Amino acid sequence: MCGIVGYIGGKEAFPILINGLKRLEYRGYDSAGVALLNGSLGNFKRKGKVAELEDFVNSENCSGTVGIGHTRWATHGEPSDKNAHPHNSMGDLFSVVHNGIIENYARLKDDLVKHGYSFKSETDTEVLANLIEYFYLQSEEMTSEAAVQLALSKVVGAYGIAVLCSREKEKIVVARKGSPLVVGLGDGEYFIASDASPIAEYTSQVVYLNDEDIAIIQRDGFTLKNVQNNPVSLKISNLDLEIGALDKGEFEYFMLKEIYEQPLTIEETFRGRLREDYSEIVLGGLLNVFPKLEEAERIIIIGCGTSWHAALIAEYLFEEYARVPVEVEYASEFRYRKPIINSRDVVILISQSGETADTMAALHLAKSKGATVLGICNVVGSSLARETDAGVYTHAGVEIGVASTKAFTAQVTVLTMIALKLAKRKGSIDIQEYKKLVNELSEIPEKGRIILESDQKIQKIAEKYHEAVNALYLGRGYLFPVALEGALKLKEISYVHAEGYAAGEMKHGPIALVDDNLPVVVVAPEDAYYEKVVSNIQEVKARKGNVIAIVTEGDSGLKELANDVIEIPKSHPAVAPLLAVIPLQLLAYHIALLKGCNVDQPRNLAKSVTVE
Ligand code: F6R
Repeated sequence: MCGIVGYIGGKEAFPILINGLKRLEYRGYDSAGVALLNGSLGNFKRKGKVAELEDFVNSENCSGTVGIGHTRWATHGEPSDKNAHPHNSMGDLFSVVHNGIIENYARLKDDLVKHGYSFKSETDTEVLANLIEYFYLQSEEMTSEAAVQLALSKVVGAYGIAVLCSREKEKIVVARKGSPLVVGLGDGEYFIASDASPIAEYTSQVVYLNDEDIAIIQRDGFTLKNVQNNPVSLKISNLDLEIGALDKGEFEYFMLKEIYEQPLTIEETFRGRLREDYSEIVLGGLLNVFPKLEEAERIIIIGCGTSWHAALIAEYLFEEYARVPVEVEYASEFRYRKPIINSRDVVILISQSGETADTMAALHLAKSKGATVLGICNVVGSSLARETDAGVYTHAGVEIGVASTKAFTAQVTVLTMIALKLAKRKGSIDIQEYKKLVNELSEIPEKGRIILESDQKIQKIAEKYHEAVNALYLGRGYLFPVALEGALKLKEISYVHAEGYAAGEMKHGPIALVDDNLPVVVVAPEDAYYEKVVSNIQEVKARKGNVIAIVTEGDSGLKELANDVIEIPKSHPAVAPLLAVIPLQLLAYHIALLKGCNVDQPRNLAKSVTVE
């Protein structure tokens, strides 16, 4: 949420900042801006996308080799030119870009007003810029980093910031608490960004800042301390990010590219982890914690949004096969209620980005209660990956489309592997069943490819229903969370109101919605619930609802009954979510496209929700 970039070195900063902002635009896209240090502190900002900022800035007046930039997802103050970042302090001594929320900004603002400060924007960030300037002007000896430290010591909330000072032209000060920041180390130059994607084309050496770190970055050196002014040791990491992965390639949207990548990304997720003879699942990251998992009295799985849906699937898997009680929690609820957790609990946090504020807070809470905390995460080096006791990377590759697709199937793949391995270790699964399931998992990529061949058919179905204003998604068992996920995909990218329900719940309320205008997407492959789901479809049809059924290939019965069917290859019910979700992703994609929506940048949303 919000993207920050910065550059200091020998090159012109502006093109580097603009490219970086384009890479980070998925984090927020309501306004953008850059500040450059040359003679003075040039500040250019604009409501709208980064491309609009680029058009607006006249390349002749934006030279400079030190600069910062920002692409915004609004928290305080509507998207507008004046609320866009960077924010200059009243005396134009400082320029600040910020990701996060300063919770006590109103009180700080009142104090600054008493000291004669006035404000141009409605943002919390301008308060921080002025607070830094206020401290800077308290003493002749004050440095910009000391002023930043003093200001941050007064702040309650979350921040990732980059700060320029017009009196210290050879320096960028950056700091983080709760919002990620990475510094790329070049030759006589440094790159700053909210994540590594803008840095990867310049250097593979990076330093991930930890909470309360503050870095003073100059052309010839980089000092790391914490906000309390204690030195912090520098840990340089190697980036393993292919630039090609950051482009759309032949696809119109990242979301479509990422849907199509799934056969490959699922394969990547289990590459080297499934033994060829299906005898073993190797999860190196969890090696030392499996005894804990075996002894766990219960497992609590936590996530937000799509990651929470993956957690729900895991509940079915873990309880059926590993015979351990599972609770699934929204991170945003878990962190604020008074959960009963103890050292015999294992808490699994799921997050694509590894930076979601609520998930990180849930992690900290579980850790403080002595639970073993494990992470399932896609972004290498993210806060979640660094702060959990152990974990598994999903290896889905960079996910840029705001609507999560390949990250979801990768998470479910990892969770399936953990559940099966745990079941085998506990002896709670029959070994033949175990081998069958591992084999089924290994066949998912091929079956996924077959489903993608139905894309044109799904597009035709989307054409029939894209004007609907509501939609209902139904599924049972392992496919109930898939119904939730299908509904979430549709609502977030096409703004159609969609609800996911356990099919058996339909008659307890949602059936009242059914009429001849309502598309009802029913996930109905052949499994133990098949007959019951067919009855649910009958109930919808009896009320003139339009049924789009996801069925096992060759199912002639539902072809007759449903208005439209999308076939998926036969699979074991426990791995069926990995297949059944793909047509739902495509359906949402095509409906959104037909409605003229920007699929990769849906309104009001941003990837990586680093604020509460
Ligand atoms: C939906 C979506 C969100 C995320 C949620 C959690 O398509 O992308 O619901 O799943 O914001 O994000 P992570 O997994 O990064 O913690």
